Amino acid sequence: MTDNVVLKRELKALLKVRKAIMLSHNYQRDEVQEAADVTGDSLALSQAAAMDAKSDVIVFCGVRFMAESAAILSPQKTVILPRMDAGCPMADMITPEDLIKEKEKRPGVPVVAYVNTSAAVKALSDICCTSANAAAVVNSLSSDRVYMIPDKNLSHFVSLSTKKKMEWWEGHCPTHERLKPSEVVKAKGDNPGAVFVCHPECSPEVIKLADHVCSTSGMYKFAKTTQAKTVIVGTEMGILYKLKKENPDKNFILPSKSLICPNMKLTTLEDVIESLKDMKNVVRVDDAVRVKAKEALDKMLRVPRDY
Ligand code: 13P
Ligand code: SF4
Repeated sequence: MTDNVVLKRELKALLKVRKAIMLSHNYQRDEVQEAADVTGDSLALSQAAAMDAKSDVIVFCGVRFMAESAAILSPQKTVILPRMDAGCPMADMITPEDLIKEKEKRPGVPVVAYVNTSAAVKALSDICCTSANAAAVVNSLSSDRVYMIPDKNLSHFVSLSTKKKMEWWEGHCPTHERLKPSEVVKAKGDNPGAVFVCHPECSPEVIKLADHVCSTSGMYKFAKTTQAKTVIVGTEMGILYKLKKENPDKNFILPSKSLICPNMKLTTLEDVIESLKDMKNVVRVDDAVRVKAKEALDKMLRVPRDY
């Protein structure tokens, strides 16, 4: 029996004993995605955390802001982040103090916080969004001005599909920023007939080259429906696991070797088992912050997904 089979068996038994559900983001290691009860993008995982009525424990294989969102949405549950050092550099690019200053410059202008933010930053925001509903969230607001945080690339992408006057914080995802337009042009040249799909965290120059721009779960939908046999994928390499599994007759190509988020790759099956065994690495959000942050997340969950 391979090591992974033994580990998965142990994990399954522990999940049952702890009455736990295992959620995994689409960028996690293949074996973690394979073992999870639910895999998805940030929006799908927030919905799973908010709607799950069966379990007492959520073990969240992703990065800190995702586990925090689960703790905010399901306060009655114990939320475990198997690797407490799994953070998101983009989320760290804006602090509550930064946001307070920006709000003072724009009284009355609603703040849309990408979920890739800390709980404290969400608590100061009017509504959250993910890459799967950002344009719908912005367009759902009555104000004709919007301030968006923290990703300059997602904000710029949304500004192309709304009449609202948008301003934003200049944060970015280091992983997606590494993808260069020249690498996409080369991959297209090497693969005539291929289509290029990318995440809105990519730079505007890369987005201009895309046939389709969407969240990670949007990419699964796109891959199934496109007529093209080869898809060039502009996002973190963990996406390939399910793309290949669900579309064995298609080729998926990463245009760059640098599309790896080190934080998303930290969590191993052993980490998940250890944290569940000892019920350690529990994510807690103070009540004062949690209640305000939940309002922003709940508002987002009422807006339909736009991909
Ligand atoms: P998705 O919501 O599209 O899964 O993206 C989350 C993320 O962190 C992308 O870098
Ligand atoms: Fe954060 Fe980028 Fe990693 Fe997503 S891929 S978790 S935005 S650093």
